[in-house]
Amino acid sequence: MERTFVILKPDAVQRGLVGEIVARFERRGLKIVGMKFMAVSEELARRHYAVHQGKPFFSGLIQYITSGPVVAMVLEGTDAIQVVRRTIGATRPAEAEPGTIRGDLGLEIGRNLVHGSDGPETAAFEIDLWFGDDLVAWSRATDPWIFE
Ligand code: RTP
Ligand code: MG
Repeated sequence: MERTFVILKPDAVQRGLVGEIVARFERRGLKIVGMKFMAVSEELARRHYAVHQGKPFFSGLIQYITSGPVVAMVLEGTDAIQVVRRTIGATRPAEAEPGTIRGDLGLEIGRNLVHGSDGPETAAFEIDLWFGDDLVAWSRATDPWIFE
């Protein structure tokens, strides 16, 4: 079973899309093992997006992610990292397939609604950065109907 880290970015919160987006992950079968509504400090934003430091869009990205509250989540399930990335869709919403979160709900790269970890090392780093040990391992009544 794999875990991945997700952020519902400030635009998702401001547009009232938290329920819509969380519902998509839940319906997919992913299990919530961590979730919090929070303000993002500039320090946390810079650590989270450290790989993008020095790129032309970096300061705009930090401004965007710290511009309002977010919902941070840890999701668990079979191939969770890849499944979440594919459920979110391409970085540039104009190129995201219809049916994906960005393809259904977004238009611009700088307002692309959701973050999902892009690989196992990133997921481990981000889960530790945002949640530490503050996760809930639990047995879901529907698990046997979702996990074979
Ligand atoms: P994320 O990290 O937020 O899940 O997005 P991603 O993997 O699909 O894309 P990534 O390459 O990691 O870029 C991180 C975020 O930076 C913003 N961005 N803007 N203006 C630009 O060219 C540009 N490129 C990236 C986006 O908000 C993207 O989600
Ligand atoms: Mg990324």
